[in-house]
Amino acid sequence: MKIQIINGPNLNLLGTREPQTYGTQSFEAFFEKLKNRFPQAELSSYQSNVEGELINKLHAVGFSYEGIVLNAGAYTHTSVAIHDAIAAIKTPVVEVHISNVYAREEFRHKSLITSKCAGLITGFGMEGYALAIQYLLTRY
Ligand code: DQA
Repeated sequence: MKIQIINGPNLNLLGTREPQTYGTQSFEAFFEKLKNRFPQAELSSYQSNVEGELINKLHAVGFSYEGIVLNAGAYTHTSVAIHDAIAAIKTPVVEVHISNVYAREEFRHKSLITSKCAGLITGFGMEGYALAIQYLLTRY
């Protein structure tokens, strides 16, 4: 079962970026642990700061993979194009946020992508990615 994790802008800086909000662990270190926790899933990880590249990745995996875990970062709150890309593909997408976006600034309370996702996980730190994978595994 193939699951693609897609991280959007500024998430390449996890571990050093605002550690009080996002923690001190790099995504690379966390991803190694995730692979050990879910040996039954074929996990891959992709990150880009560029909106169009995130859309290209959604298109590339969105007709053949069994699941996508998407943290679109700030594009969550702005991107009609990512909303449309999720609507256009077949693979279920789980929206993940490390922080609790509803406990933060009001501009983070609006997501343009949730309505096209299978569901939303927010506020459980990096563990949110694991919760999303757990859900996707139950679909198969
Ligand atoms: C985030 C929340 C977004 O509002 C923010 O722009 C991010 C990270 C999160 O994982 O908590 O870049 O998606």
